[in-house]
Amino acid sequence: MARKAVIETFGCQMNVHDSERIAGLLEQSGYVMTTDLVEADLVVINTCSVREKAQEKLYARLDDVRGKNNKERPLVAVTGCVAQQEGGKIADQTRTRIDAVVGTQAIKKLPMLLAEAEHSNRLQVDINPYDDVSFPLGIATRHDPTKAFVNIIEGCNDFCAFCVVPYTRGLERMRPSQEILAEVELVAAAGHSEIHLLGQIVNHYQDPQYPDFDFPQLLRSVGEVDKVKRIRFASPHPRHVSDRLIEVMGESEKVCSHLHLPLQSGSSKILKSMNRRHSREYYLQLVNKVRKNIPEIALSTDIIIGFPGETENDFFETLSMTETVRFNSMYSFKYSERPNTLASKRLPDTVASEEKLSRLMRLQDLQKNIQIALNKELVGRRVEVLIDSRSRKRPNELSGRTPQNTIVNFEGAPDQIGDLTIVEIDGSGAHSVHGFQVQSN
Ligand code: 5AD
Ligand code: SF4
Repeated sequence: MARKAVIETFGCQMNVHDSERIAGLLEQSGYVMTTDLVEADLVVINTCSVREKAQEKLYARLDDVRGKNNKERPLVAVTGCVAQQEGGKIADQTRTRIDAVVGTQAIKKLPMLLAEAEHSNRLQVDINPYDDVSFPLGIATRHDPTKAFVNIIEGCNDFCAFCVVPYTRGLERMRPSQEILAEVELVAAAGHSEIHLLGQIVNHYQDPQYPDFDFPQLLRSVGEVDKVKRIRFASPHPRHVSDRLIEVMGESEKVCSHLHLPLQSGSSKILKSMNRRHSREYYLQLVNKVRKNIPEIALSTDIIIGFPGETENDFFETLSMTETVRFNSMYSFKYSERPNTLASKRLPDTVASEEKLSRLMRLQDLQKNIQIALNKELVGRRVEVLIDSRSRKRPNELSGRTPQNTIVNFEGAPDQIGDLTIVEIDGSGAHSVHGFQVQSN
């Protein structure tokens, strides 16, 4: 009987896609994927270390593996950002026996390391940096019927003072455009009509061999692939949003009218100590320029609350920026000190935990009201929706997103998943809108 493997994934889209790659590699070496921990012969925990809380989840899951698994001893592998950061030390911090710790750059070696661990009965660790970002075409197992993640850049050279990513994902390495486009062709032919291009600073893309082939050019080329209906990308950096990028986004029918622009703080003083290399003023000018050229654009952002040195006044600047820009959505986080980062070395974590929480709540309240108001403006309008799933709340409803990334729920048949349709909006909330189909294409 085939051996069964469970993959648990924490963290960002990059990690979700790494898990798709891991699943493909394991299937090739004879495993069958399951979600049932009880039955698993192999448990892979693909970890995130962006904030301390994310990292703690690893140890909680390792306890679960010991408690809930029925097998005498499943193989256990830890992959991803905590694996890269902690290496073999992970094994000393849990009573669950670990067989392999595989860093972010050594995923391709996972099946080999597992075989070696079984053979030798010893922990295998590979957290070496590898420049090679190639990945065999057609191996990743994608479960989402409409979306497909496609990596274009791995790693990051920016060293924002709060961020662990350059240490966990390594320095920036670009994937050849030929490989990217071959993968896009393949997944689009398999029915994934929405391509999500992924990179830590996705708009910094440049083909390693042909420097003129940059991110706007890549967007154009992906748009030329027939079966691709929509293109999204995550995450861009505000300072690399060039006029050409705005132009290509405005022109292209396929590139969605949504731009995620991580702001992190509304205070130029804090942005400077974060080493963000953009100011409040630059960001506001950029927002104006983007909106002037692409009036239908939706903007979303990331904010960190309570970065070292953030005063009440700095926080007000974040609130006022939020009010001025009126983001369509926002991810906001309390600052969490991470190992190796510039901030952890130079800037003591000064803002008290309760103060961080209170500021976070105030920001989230403000943002919620903005979202309610923006979503209300959609009522009575017709929007294009790519249907991606059944609605989570009501089984007879479908769910999809507008090009602006607004979630829309409406009645429909499950065989429509993957189709584009037109929905008239008849209700709205803070996180989604509701409507009815007026025409399917
Ligand atoms: N503490 C809190 N939030 C962080 N982020 C990154 N590092 C930290 C940290 N140390 C947030 C940033 C980033 C998002 C992915 O996570 O807002 O854009
Ligand atoms: Fe988490 Fe960052 Fe790693 Fe993604 S790249 S898994 S967000 S630490």
